[in-house]
Amino acid sequence: MTKKIQFTETVLRDGQQSQIATRMPTSDMLPIIQTMDDAGFHALEMWGGATFDACVRYLNEDPWQRLRQIRKIVKNTKLQMLLRGQNLLGYRHYADDVVTAFVKKSIENGIDIVRVFDALNDTRNLQTAIEATKKAGGHCQGAIAYTTSKIHTIDYFTDLAKEFQQMGADSICIKDMAGVLLPDVCYDLIRQIKETIDLPIEVHTHATGGIAEMTYLKAAEAGADIIDTCISSFSGGTSQPATESLAIALEALGFETGLDLAKLEKIAQHFNPIRDRFRKEGLLNAKVKDTEPKALIYQVPGGMLSNLLSQLKEQGLEDKYEKVLTEVPKVRADLGYPPLVTPMSQMVGTQALMNVMACVRYKMIPQEIKEYVEGKYGRSPITITPEIKQKIIGDKKPITCRPADLLEDELSKLTDEIKEYAKTEEDILLYAMFPKQGRDFLGKREDPFYDVPIQTITVTFD
Ligand code: CO
Repeated sequence: MTKKIQFTETVLRDGQQSQIATRMPTSDMLPIIQTMDDAGFHALEMWGGATFDACVRYLNEDPWQRLRQIRKIVKNTKLQMLLRGQNLLGYRHYADDVVTAFVKKSIENGIDIVRVFDALNDTRNLQTAIEATKKAGGHCQGAIAYTTSKIHTIDYFTDLAKEFQQMGADSICIKDMAGVLLPDVCYDLIRQIKETIDLPIEVHTHATGGIAEMTYLKAAEAGADIIDTCISSFSGGTSQPATESLAIALEALGFETGLDLAKLEKIAQHFNPIRDRFRKEGLLNAKVKDTEPKALIYQVPGGMLSNLLSQLKEQGLEDKYEKVLTEVPKVRADLGYPPLVTPMSQMVGTQALMNVMACVRYKMIPQEIKEYVEGKYGRSPITITPEIKQKIIGDKKPITCRPADLLEDELSKLTDEIKEYAKTEEDILLYAMFPKQGRDFLGKREDPFYDVPIQTITVTFD
């Protein structure tokens, strides 16, 4: 029996998000899309995550338009997006009507696979997105936000995968955004999920720690169906391992990948000069290609380590780095072991920093941490002790329901707010994600005088 493994190519989303802050314009993509469609990928991850934000904020592009342009060319390969559950692509919890409309329009405009995850693995935050995906005829992939802690065991993640299946997921992703998934754990996790449920499994990791190729090898051996890789031009370091290298190695090991190596070479030839251009412009920092095993040593994502260090440097407190690093796991334990992914990684990092700087723990507390303890982000992986709750929110009673249950439908209000410039439901949803940048974007498109400053004329009488 031939062993099979398929590839999802990430250069259009995670690859460029990890290495050039998602600044690749659609014009860099379009000339190579046909070749990418013919290369034999299972899917192209090309939308969602930070792509939407970057289009509107930095590139003056309509992200919906990008999706339609790519869809028009891609006939054989699935188009995949990443969705942060009830946060969609924005930075707050949206009401259910917005979530449903957003998912429906994403699929209508060309998305096949919607990969959904929640930063806390609170499945209640994924309920609406999963239902909407199924209803709109899309493939729903439930993604486990992988993390390490004493409670994040193989049984814990297997139960989560089971829950995804019961909720209607068509496949499961083990999403290791921090690049801390070890090869042996990956193997055991896939074996156990495969023994428990019968859904395709995809593995997503990052090369930051220098172990990603080994993790993918063990994933393949354990029977993973799909792995996420990035074409060599934007691979390695903070991104995924290189597509070509993995394809060659796995083929030699007897796996059928379905990939056309000559086409992969063409894709790399297209993206190499684009990478060089970003390097010259300074947008591709040499550091993103570095190997950083600290993430594995401290069990803290690489991005979080460098953020903490630069925050400390700004205040001339570099000497506190080690202290803050030992405080991070303590804060995380206090807060019920949230996965260290956005936004929790920033929140836990800031709290650890404040605890060290104030010399008294929880003397200073950011508003977001209070809201988290109040249950407004969802359920913490394990219950927070009464002592810590008391320290952070006093006698306030946390909510126990799904956070979105407290939100009134808001689509009609949003429609009304942007009716001056929005022509389509896609426009309204764009505005809903990023009110300020969205309004500016649509305003400039609809009104040539939108950002012309109004002259103030001072009339003096004397
Ligand atoms: Co990723």
